[in-house]
Amino acid sequence: MKNVLLLGVGLSFLSSCALIADKKDPGWEYAPQMYVSDAYEPYSQVEDHSINKDGKNMREPVAGTIARSGVGYDNTRLELMNNYPIGKDSLEYAAKVLKNPLEVNDKNLEKGAYFYNSYCSPCHGKEGKGDGLVGQKYGGVPNYQASYIVNQPSGHIYHVITKGKGRMWGHGSQIRPEERWQIVMYVNKLRGYTGE
Ligand code: HEC
Repeated sequence: MKNVLLLGVGLSFLSSCALIADKKDPGWEYAPQMYVSDAYEPYSQVEDHSINKDGKNMREPVAGTIARSGVGYDNTRLELMNNYPIGKDSLEYAAKVLKNPLEVNDKNLEKGAYFYNSYCSPCHGKEGKGDGLVGQKYGGVPNYQASYIVNQPSGHIYHVITKGKGRMWGHGSQIRPEERWQIVMYVNKLRGYTGE
């Protein structure tokens, strides 16, 4: 008797599938919230949003919005762009085209020292001699007064900070462009460089 009952239940399930006329209809949803989120999702949406006028969950940026990569700056000014389109390996080119847009003064140097001590001195050391506590373990950290660094233009240092070089990782995603230039000023002071 039990078997007959089970067979009956099984058959009725099969027929309920077969009865669905529209082949594209997925049929009865067992747990709808598993397919469609109750939260307002920006990229998947089934129903019109009841408050936003255009019915979309995601709001359009207001007119005049500038992408984060160009915040507040003229995008043609490479030296102030967050993501300037110069590849890591184009160091020589970067050194030639990038010019420090900020005035070299005490205020900028002071800020540069502050950021240098946060981001760089653990490897490069307070005086830029390559002897920071992390640097000693990390290995291969040069002295800024090494002959191949000491006379490099500011754009060279800026590019190294932004994209990294060799064993050093880039810091472009952590440090804003003006702050990078302030660090460059301070690195110039540490290495005794007075050129552009
Ligand atoms: C995790 C350790 C580490 C940190 C942090 C670090 N560096 Fe470096 N840096 C290195 C190493 C290692 C090298 C050598 C890279 C190579 O040539 O392989 C280097 C090289 C350099 C050079 C020489 C580039 C050249 O022309 O050869 C400069 C300039 C420099 N770093 C500046 C900075 C500044 C400024 C900061 C802070 C924003 C910084 N670094 C943060 C490890 C670090």
